[in-house]
Amino acid sequence: MMLLRLAMCRCQAARNLQQIQRTPLRQWLLQRGQNTVSSGAASVGSVSIRSAASDRLIGRWLLGCSGLVLGAVVLGGVTRLTESGLSMVDWHLVKEMKPPQTQAEWEQEFAKYQQFPEFKIMNHDMTLTEFKFIFYMEWGHRMWGRLVGLAYILPAAYFWRRGYFSRSMKTRVLGLCGFVVFQGLLGWYMVKSGLEEKPESYDVPRVSQYRLAAHLGSALLLYAASLWTGLTLLLPANRMPDSRQLLNLRRFAKMTGGLVFLTALSGAFVAGLDAGLVYNSFPKMGERWIPDDLLAFSPALKNVFENPTTVQFDHRILGIGSLTAITGLYLFSRRMILPRRAKMAISLLTAMAYTQVVLGISTLLLYVPTPLAATHQSGSVALLTFAIWVLAELRKVPK
Ligand code: HEM
Repeated sequence: MMLLRLAMCRCQAARNLQQIQRTPLRQWLLQRGQNTVSSGAASVGSVSIRSAASDRLIGRWLLGCSGLVLGAVVLGGVTRLTESGLSMVDWHLVKEMKPPQTQAEWEQEFAKYQQFPEFKIMNHDMTLTEFKFIFYMEWGHRMWGRLVGLAYILPAAYFWRRGYFSRSMKTRVLGLCGFVVFQGLLGWYMVKSGLEEKPESYDVPRVSQYRLAAHLGSALLLYAASLWTGLTLLLPANRMPDSRQLLNLRRFAKMTGGLVFLTALSGAFVAGLDAGLVYNSFPKMGERWIPDDLLAFSPALKNVFENPTTVQFDHRILGIGSLTAITGLYLFSRRMILPRRAKMAISLLTAMAYTQVVLGISTLLLYVPTPLAATHQSGSVALLTFAIWVLAELRKVPK
């Protein structure tokens, strides 16, 4: 009975494989991967038809997806900086894809916006033309988000059906697709916090800095995970002798990558609290190295996330800390013999770190002008990109 079932199973698997082999893409993959079919490839039992060529295809797809996430981060930053993020006051997956068409529809949309605190407190003299601008900014960001979702989910479903994923890649891809959906929901959860009436507050309406940091942080994680997976599929691992020095360099690079991520996350708190508009001087904050109101809130921990002075102070320290760590990594790597690509990645990471700090300081000194602040935000993604590239170059060769 068992043998019969096994035979039937194999028969079905072989039929599936034949079906797969008939597709033009599959034929192309087989041709390209002929000489390089890896040990995990073409297993009929699990109908996995991985080859070097299909890995390359998946790698390119994931790099493309990370490029789209980068676009979403930049667009999201510009939407926030132009104060457009609270213009669409509800959320519908399909219905909102069509923006208002007629004058009457625009007026209806504008009337909805007028019910919310941002219009009542900040924008009560806004015209319909001005409203159209902020609406289109937010709409563009939301549509881009949908494009990102489709770019992950549709090819993933296709590759899955065709059997291009290994077992571990299936888990990763499921995780990435789940992450995209989560990111969209988090975006709406963030926007909602800016639409609530807060009768006891005299502050300008803005989204919660916690939710902004969660939204940016999870976009950066999605970006980093897609880029890492794509790069490890596309870049052959460097074979280097496993010395003590290399082990330390790898550890150092991982810690540096973590620090860059933490700095970017702390930047979201600066942005969320408009903390770039307190203490617009550098290196001192006003007349002092450590400002008086650093611990103004009680309990003390609250200052780290809610006091604009402390949030800016922490971001400065983390930014300079990242720069110091990257400079250390560069100097340490200079004493070692490394493959050319690894050296290039470390040099570019170092150059980008200096650029990013200069951008950050200029953003602060010039009172956060939109183009500069948006460039500083994009710079953090560029920095993260180089950090991940360095890690991909230094990764262990799988045994
Ligand atoms: C490795 C270094 C750094 C990284 C990765 C980084 C990253 C970031 C990120 C991701 C944001 C949020 C942007 C947004 O959501 O719009 C931000 C905001 C900001 N950063 Fe940095 N930053 C760094 C260094 C610095 C330094 C050294 C300064 C100045 C001393 C600085 C000043 C600012 C300011 C003023 C903002 C608020 C801009 C706004 O309101 O949009 N940054 N940073």
